[in-house]
Amino acid sequence: MKHLDTDYGPSVVRTSELGTIYLNVQPHSLTISQELQATFAFDGEGRPLSCFLDGRNYRFGLSGAVLLKTTHPDGKLRRILDPAEAEALAATVHARATRIANAIMHGRSPALRAWLERVVAWDRTRRAEACQAFAATYSPISIVPPDHYQAVVIQATEGCSWNQCSFCSFYRDRAFRIKSPAALQEHIVQVKALLGRGLALRRSIFLGDANALIVPQARLRELLAVVNAAFPPTATGGPRGIYAFLDIFGGEIKQVADYVELKQDGIQRIYLGLETGDEEVFRMLNKPGSPAECVEVVQRIKAAGINVGVILLAGVGGVGFAERHLSSSLTTLQAMNLSQGDLVYISPLIPPATSDYARQMQGVQPLDTAAMQAQLAALRSGALTASNAQARVALYHIEEWLY
Ligand SMILES: C[S@@+](CC[C@H](N)C(=O)[O-])C[C@H]1O[C@@H](n2cnc3c(N)ncnc32)[C@H](O)[C@@H]1O
Ligand code: SF4
Repeated sequence: MKHLDTDYGPSVVRTSELGTIYLNVQPHSLTISQELQATFAFDGEGRPLSCFLDGRNYRFGLSGAVLLKTTHPDGKLRRILDPAEAEALAATVHARATRIANAIMHGRSPALRAWLERVVAWDRTRRAEACQAFAATYSPISIVPPDHYQAVVIQATEGCSWNQCSFCSFYRDRAFRIKSPAALQEHIVQVKALLGRGLALRRSIFLGDANALIVPQARLRELLAVVNAAFPPTATGGPRGIYAFLDIFGGEIKQVADYVELKQDGIQRIYLGLETGDEEVFRMLNKPGSPAECVEVVQRIKAAGINVGVILLAGVGGVGFAERHLSSSLTTLQAMNLSQGDLVYISPLIPPATSDYARQMQGVQPLDTAAMQAQLAALRSGALTASNAQARVALYHIEEWLY
């Protein structure tokens, strides 16, 4: 039997009671698997991150929410569990992990024993406390780009300054607000307390919420200084680089020189929802600006040496606009001169039932599954060509977001 006194990595422990247990100790995460049938991953606090149980994959959010991902004959199924299901699953994971931890504890290194003890201590009470701490720290974090699902979210602002796009219901329930530097500092103290050792697993900083970069330049730089002071680069992991959304309404105001300053302040990539390159569809969506203005903003951002993430909505405009949406979107992407480090995300439209979009589109034939798949494929391959294979192109499934 391998003793984990000093070394990280995988090891195997055979027990008479629970069969073979596989451990994988990484600097900031611990994975425990029983007979490779049930697998549980934890952060440094002993808080569950994910599990594979009864053929299903689950991800645990800091908020207490749990996302189920499984394959279904019709395709992948993604669903946020209802609170009772989430609590029952968390209790099962805790009970199973506790049994395993107790069975293998003897003979482990002091550091690993302490970690297993933290897993055991993450019980119902601890979970409830963590959920309360989350609610006191954050206002709801509606969405971030997929490459920042492992970010630490810092809400320098809350909500969306525009909040009127017809298809988007992410921030309708709250007013936009910009935090003061003092309030941001206090927020970061709470975030760090909430994450504890789990902070080391977070790879980047995502500056919330929907368009944090709309903040006037002087105030934005003050806020970025607070963030940078709170997260100095370390050799032991933790978040690196700052990322944020921008809608082009705010983007019109900042010039190349402003973006150069933001790059100096650590901004690595800015994400913009172009949604469509077709002017008429764009207007129908009630996005601020126009596709042409979006191109200008992207060029300014890129001239400052900051990368962009451009988001397109697949299916928007239904069957009637499908061809125009596809061709104009690809032409618009091409005009952006995307390069290495840039991203194009394609988000299949999920119209909220009560949205302005749903009302507008009454009588418009939505894409059926096959047409949606065809448009997704055409947008994906077209986006790659439009960027001369420089940008990375990926799908953006908004239902997969969980923090
Ligand atoms: C927070 S939003 C946009 C960020 C920024 N405020 C902007 O407008 O550019 C992130 C992305 O989520 C996607 N999104 C919003 N609502 C959606 C919906 N109902 N279905 C699919 N994707 C949606 C859009 O593509 C949007 O650009
Ligand atoms: S798409 Fe962006 S700008 Fe439009 S309402 Fe949603 S978050 Fe705000």
